[in-house]
Amino acid sequence: MPEAIQIKNLSFSYTPGKPVLNNLNLEVKPGEKLGLIGPMGTGKSTLLLHLNGILAGSGMVKIGDTLVENRSLADIRRKVGLVFQNPDDQLFSPTVEDDVAFGPLNFGYSREEVAKRVRNALEAMSLTGFEKSVSHHLSMGERKRVALATVIATNPEVIAFDEPFSSLDPSMMAQLLKLINGLQATLVIVSQLFLPLLSCCDRVAILNKGSIMAVGPAQDIIRDDELMRSNGMDLGFYKKACRAFFNKIPGRFLFTMKYPSNKTK
Ligand SMILES: Nc1ncnc2c1ncn2[C@@H]1O[C@H](COP(=O)(O)OP(=O)(O)OP(=O)(O)O)[C@@H](O)[C@H]1O
Ligand SMILES: [Mg+2]
Repeated sequence: MPEAIQIKNLSFSYTPGKPVLNNLNLEVKPGEKLGLIGPMGTGKSTLLLHLNGILAGSGMVKIGDTLVENRSLADIRRKVGLVFQNPDDQLFSPTVEDDVAFGPLNFGYSREEVAKRVRNALEAMSLTGFEKSVSHHLSMGERKRVALATVIATNPEVIAFDEPFSSLDPSMMAQLLKLINGLQATLVIVSQLFLPLLSCCDRVAILNKGSIMAVGPAQDIIRDDELMRSNGMDLGFYKKACRAFFNKIPGRFLFTMKYPSNKTK
Protein backbone atom coordinates (compact mmCIF):
# COMPACT_ATOMS: atom_id res chain seq x y z
CA MET A 1 0.00 0.00 0.00
CA PRO A 2 1.45 3.44 -0.88
CA GLU A 3 2.03 6.05 1.80
CA ALA A 4 -1.03 8.27 2.30
CA ILE A 5 1.26 11.30 1.98
CA GLN A 6 4.75 11.31 0.55
CA ILE A 7 6.80 14.50 0.38
CA LYS A 8 10.26 14.47 -1.13
CA ASN A 9 12.77 17.31 -1.29
CA LEU A 10 10.05 19.97 -1.11
CA SER A 11 11.36 23.54 -1.24
CA PHE A 12 9.28 26.70 -1.40
CA SER A 13 9.81 30.46 -0.99
CA TYR A 14 7.33 33.31 -0.99
CA THR A 15 10.22 35.72 -1.54
CA PRO A 16 13.10 34.74 -3.83
CA GLY A 17 16.18 33.79 -1.83
CA LYS A 18 14.22 33.30 1.43
CA PRO A 19 13.18 29.65 1.53
CA VAL A 20 10.36 28.76 3.93
CA LEU A 21 10.52 25.03 3.11
CA ASN A 22 13.95 23.66 2.35
CA ASN A 23 14.36 20.13 0.99
CA LEU A 24 11.65 18.84 3.28
CA ASN A 25 10.89 15.11 3.45
CA LEU A 26 7.96 13.49 5.22
CA GLU A 27 5.87 10.34 4.93
CA VAL A 28 2.51 9.64 6.55
CA LYS A 29 0.93 6.19 6.59
CA PRO A 30 -2.73 5.54 5.69
CA GLY A 31 -4.97 6.16 8.69
CA GLU A 32 -2.17 7.70 10.72
CA LYS A 33 -2.73 10.82 12.84
CA LEU A 34 0.39 12.95 12.62
CA GLY A 35 0.92 16.06 14.73
CA LEU A 36 3.03 18.82 13.18
CA ILE A 37 4.66 21.25 15.59
CA GLY A 38 7.20 24.02 15.37
CA PRO A 39 7.73 27.62 16.44
CA MET A 40 5.55 30.35 14.94
CA GLY A 41 6.41 31.35 11.40
CA THR A 42 8.38 28.21 10.52
CA GLY A 43 6.16 27.17 7.63
CA LYS A 44 3.60 24.75 9.12
CA SER A 45 0.65 26.38 7.36
CA THR A 46 2.74 26.74 4.21
CA LEU A 47 3.43 23.01 4.25
CA LEU A 48 -0.28 22.15 4.65
CA LEU A 49 -1.12 24.37 1.66
CA HIS A 50 1.10 22.10 -0.46
CA LEU A 51 -0.96 19.01 0.39
CA ASN A 52 -3.88 20.03 -1.83
CA GLY A 53 -1.96 22.08 -4.34
CA ILE A 54 -2.91 25.58 -3.18
CA LEU A 55 0.84 26.20 -3.17
CA ALA A 56 3.36 24.41 -5.36
CA GLY A 57 7.05 24.32 -4.54
CA SER A 58 9.83 22.32 -6.15
CA GLY A 59 10.13 18.66 -5.24
CA MET A 60 7.42 16.04 -4.95
CA VAL A 61 4.15 15.81 -3.04
CA LYS A 62 2.12 12.64 -3.53
CA ILE A 63 -1.26 11.70 -2.03
CA GLY A 64 -1.57 7.93 -2.28
CA ASP A 65 -0.64 7.19 -5.89
CA THR A 66 -1.47 10.68 -7.14
CA LEU A 67 1.15 13.34 -7.69
CA VAL A 68 0.03 16.82 -6.67
CA GLU A 69 0.33 18.74 -9.94
CA ASN A 70 -1.83 21.00 -12.06
CA ARG A 71 -3.56 18.26 -14.00
CA SER A 72 -4.45 16.24 -10.87
CA LEU A 73 -5.81 19.17 -8.85
CA ALA A 74 -9.51 18.25 -9.15
CA ASP A 75 -8.76 14.73 -7.91
CA ILE A 76 -6.44 16.00 -5.17
CA ARG A 77 -9.04 18.46 -3.85
CA ARG A 78 -11.45 15.54 -3.45
CA LYS A 79 -8.87 13.50 -1.61
CA VAL A 80 -7.46 16.19 0.66
CA GLY A 81 -9.55 18.45 2.88
CA LEU A 82 -7.84 21.41 4.47
CA VAL A 83 -9.20 23.18 7.54
CA PHE A 84 -7.59 26.63 7.43
CA GLN A 85 -6.00 28.27 10.46
CA ASN A 86 -8.30 31.27 10.02
CA PRO A 87 -11.95 30.22 9.48
CA ASP A 88 -12.59 33.41 7.52
CA ASP A 89 -10.38 31.98 4.77
CA GLN A 90 -12.74 28.99 4.55
CA LEU A 91 -16.22 30.50 4.80
CA PHE A 92 -17.67 32.55 1.95
CA SER A 93 -21.34 31.56 1.56
CA PRO A 94 -24.34 33.54 2.89
CA THR A 95 -25.32 30.91 5.48
CA VAL A 96 -23.74 28.13 7.51
CA GLU A 97 -25.79 25.55 5.63
CA ASP A 98 -24.57 26.85 2.25
CA ASP A 99 -20.96 26.81 3.42
CA VAL A 100 -21.18 23.19 4.59
CA ALA A 101 -23.13 22.10 1.48
CA PHE A 102 -20.63 23.70 -0.91
CA GLY A 103 -18.10 20.84 -0.99
CA PRO A 104 -20.58 17.94 -1.29
CA LEU A 105 -22.58 19.85 -3.98
CA ASN A 106 -19.40 20.53 -5.88
CA PHE A 107 -18.52 16.85 -5.81
CA GLY A 108 -21.85 16.07 -7.48
CA TYR A 109 -23.74 14.29 -4.71
CA SER A 110 -27.54 14.11 -4.87
CA ARG A 111 -29.63 16.72 -2.99
CA GLU A 112 -30.60 14.06 -0.40
CA GLU A 113 -26.98 13.00 0.11
CA VAL A 114 -25.88 16.65 0.43
CA ALA A 115 -28.62 17.32 2.99
CA LYS A 116 -27.59 14.23 4.97
CA ARG A 117 -23.92 15.20 4.94
CA VAL A 118 -24.72 18.76 6.02
CA ARG A 119 -26.94 17.50 8.85
CA ASN A 120 -24.32 15.01 10.08
CA ALA A 121 -21.40 17.45 9.86
CA LEU A 122 -23.34 20.17 11.73
CA GLU A 123 -24.39 17.70 14.37
CA ALA A 124 -20.79 16.47 14.79
CA MET A 125 -19.71 20.05 15.46
CA SER A 126 -22.69 20.85 17.76
CA LEU A 127 -24.04 23.31 15.22
CA THR A 128 -27.54 21.94 14.75
CA GLY A 129 -29.86 24.97 14.70
CA PHE A 130 -27.21 27.22 13.07
CA GLU A 131 -28.21 26.21 9.50
CA LYS A 132 -29.61 29.61 8.53
CA SER A 133 -27.10 31.69 10.52
CA VAL A 134 -24.82 34.06 8.65
CA SER A 135 -21.34 32.55 8.99
CA HIS A 136 -19.53 35.84 9.42
CA HIS A 137 -21.89 36.90 12.24
CA LEU A 138 -20.85 33.92 14.38
CA SER A 139 -18.26 33.99 17.14
CA MET A 140 -14.69 32.91 16.37
CA GLY A 141 -15.22 29.52 18.06
CA GLU A 142 -18.46 28.96 16.13
CA ARG A 143 -16.85 29.96 12.81
CA LYS A 144 -13.99 27.58 13.58
CA ARG A 145 -16.51 24.75 14.04
CA VAL A 146 -18.31 25.65 10.78
CA ALA A 147 -14.93 25.54 8.99
CA LEU A 148 -14.34 22.05 10.43
CA ALA A 149 -17.86 20.98 9.38
CA THR A 150 -17.26 22.08 5.76
CA VAL A 151 -14.41 19.58 5.52
CA ILE A 152 -16.00 16.78 7.51
CA ALA A 153 -19.00 16.96 5.14
CA THR A 154 -16.79 15.97 2.20
CA ASN A 155 -15.29 12.96 4.00
CA PRO A 156 -11.83 13.18 2.38
CA GLU A 157 -9.07 10.53 2.57
CA VAL A 158 -6.67 13.03 4.07
CA ILE A 159 -7.54 15.95 6.34
CA ALA A 160 -5.05 18.65 7.23
CA PHE A 161 -6.13 20.61 10.31
CA ASP A 162 -4.39 23.93 10.92
CA GLU A 163 -4.69 24.85 14.62
CA PRO A 164 -8.08 23.15 15.12
CA PHE A 165 -7.98 23.49 18.92
CA SER A 166 -7.56 27.25 19.18
CA SER A 167 -10.62 29.30 20.24
CA LEU A 168 -12.52 26.25 21.53
CA ASP A 169 -13.92 26.02 25.03
CA PRO A 170 -12.97 22.95 27.10
CA SER A 171 -16.08 20.92 26.34
CA MET A 172 -15.89 21.68 22.61
CA MET A 173 -12.21 20.72 22.73
CA ALA A 174 -13.12 17.35 24.29
CA GLN A 175 -15.83 16.84 21.68
CA LEU A 176 -13.47 17.65 18.83
CA LEU A 177 -10.84 15.26 20.21
CA LYS A 178 -13.44 12.51 20.33
CA LEU A 179 -14.45 13.28 16.75
CA ILE A 180 -10.83 13.37 15.54
CA ASN A 181 -10.05 10.10 17.30
CA GLY A 182 -13.02 8.50 15.54
CA LEU A 183 -12.03 9.65 12.02
CA GLN A 184 -10.72 6.97 9.66
CA ALA A 185 -8.98 9.50 7.39
CA THR A 186 -5.25 10.15 7.44
CA LEU A 187 -4.76 13.30 9.50
CA VAL A 188 -2.08 15.96 9.75
CA ILE A 189 -2.79 18.25 12.68
CA VAL A 190 -0.85 21.46 13.24
CA SER A 191 -1.19 22.76 16.78
CA GLN A 192 0.69 24.73 19.39
CA LEU A 193 -1.43 23.00 22.05
CA PHE A 194 0.55 19.94 23.06
CA LEU A 195 -1.97 18.31 25.40
CA PRO A 196 -4.70 17.91 22.77
CA LEU A 197 -2.09 16.75 20.27
CA LEU A 198 -0.92 14.08 22.71
CA SER A 199 -4.55 13.01 23.03
CA CYS A 200 -5.01 12.29 19.35
CA CYS A 201 -1.72 11.83 17.49
CA ASP A 202 0.26 8.64 16.89
CA ARG A 203 3.40 10.45 15.77
CA VAL A 204 4.65 14.01 15.92
CA ALA A 205 6.98 15.79 13.49
CA ILE A 206 8.93 18.95 14.29
CA LEU A 207 9.17 21.52 11.51
CA ASN A 208 11.92 24.07 12.01
CA LYS A 209 14.20 25.99 9.66
CA GLY A 210 12.32 24.67 6.64
CA SER A 211 12.86 20.97 7.35
CA ILE A 212 11.51 18.14 9.46
CA MET A 213 14.01 18.08 12.33
CA ALA A 214 12.56 15.01 14.07
CA VAL A 215 9.65 12.64 13.74
CA GLY A 216 8.62 9.86 16.12
CA PRO A 217 6.04 8.65 18.63
CA ALA A 218 4.16 11.67 19.99
CA GLN A 219 5.11 11.14 23.63
CA ASP A 220 8.80 10.54 22.84
CA ILE A 221 9.09 13.76 20.83
CA ILE A 222 7.14 16.04 23.16
CA ARG A 223 8.78 14.63 26.30
CA ASP A 224 12.27 15.16 24.89
CA ASP A 225 13.08 18.48 26.61
CA GLU A 226 16.38 18.98 24.82
CA LEU A 227 14.93 18.27 21.37
CA MET A 228 11.96 20.56 22.03
CA ARG A 229 14.11 23.37 23.46
CA SER A 230 16.67 23.19 20.66
CA ASN A 231 13.80 23.60 18.21
CA GLY A 232 12.44 26.69 19.90
CA MET A 233 9.71 25.04 21.99
CA ASP A 234 10.47 25.23 25.69
CA LEU A 235 7.67 23.57 27.65
CA GLY A 236 9.11 24.62 31.05
CA PHE A 237 6.19 26.93 31.85
CA TYR A 238 3.55 24.33 30.98
CA LYS A 239 5.28 21.69 33.06
CA LYS A 240 5.49 23.97 36.09
CA ALA A 241 1.90 25.06 35.70
CA CYS A 242 0.63 21.46 35.39
CA ARG A 243 2.66 20.35 38.40
CA ALA A 244 1.41 23.28 40.49
CA PHE A 245 -2.17 22.65 39.42
CA PHE A 246 -2.17 18.94 40.21
CA ASN A 247 -0.22 19.38 43.46
CA LYS A 248 -2.66 22.15 44.48
CA ILE A 249 0.18 24.59 45.09
CA PRO A 250 -1.47 27.92 45.94
CA GLY A 251 -0.75 31.19 44.14
CA ARG A 252 0.20 31.99 40.59
CA PHE A 253 1.79 29.30 38.46
CA LEU A 254 4.29 31.50 36.73
CA PHE A 255 8.03 31.78 36.95
CA THR A 256 7.92 33.14 40.49
CA MET A 257 7.59 29.55 41.69
CA LYS A 258 10.76 27.96 43.01
CA TYR A 259 11.32 24.27 42.52
CA PRO A 260 14.36 22.22 43.49
CA SER A 261 16.37 22.02 40.25
CA ASN A 262 15.96 18.24 39.93
CA LYS A 263 12.19 18.71 39.86
CA THR A 264 12.08 21.35 37.13
CA LYS A 265 13.06 18.90 34.40
N1 LIG B 1 1.45 34.89 1.55
C1 LIG B 1 2.66 35.11 2.06
N2 LIG B 1 3.54 35.96 1.48
C2 LIG B 1 4.77 36.16 1.97
N3 LIG B 1 5.25 35.54 3.08
C3 LIG B 1 4.43 34.69 3.71
C4 LIG B 1 3.10 34.42 3.23
N4 LIG B 1 2.52 33.54 4.06
C5 LIG B 1 3.44 33.25 5.01
N5 LIG B 1 4.58 33.94 4.80
C6 LIG B 1 5.81 33.85 5.59
O1 LIG B 1 6.28 32.51 5.52
C7 LIG B 1 6.74 32.07 6.79
C8 LIG B 1 5.99 30.83 7.24
O2 LIG B 1 4.64 31.19 7.45
P1 LIG B 1 3.56 30.12 7.93
O3 LIG B 1 2.27 30.86 8.05
O4 LIG B 1 3.61 28.94 7.06
O5 LIG B 1 4.15 29.73 9.38
P2 LIG B 1 3.49 28.90 10.55
O6 LIG B 1 4.53 27.93 11.01
O7 LIG B 1 2.18 28.35 10.10
O8 LIG B 1 3.28 30.01 11.67
P3 LIG B 1 2.18 30.13 12.86
O9 LIG B 1 2.56 29.10 13.90
O10 LIG B 1 2.35 31.52 13.36
O11 LIG B 1 0.83 29.87 12.27
C9 LIG B 1 6.59 33.25 7.75
O12 LIG B 1 7.83 33.90 7.84
C10 LIG B 1 5.55 34.13 7.06
O13 LIG B 1 5.75 35.48 7.37
MG1 LIG C 1 0.26 28.70 10.71
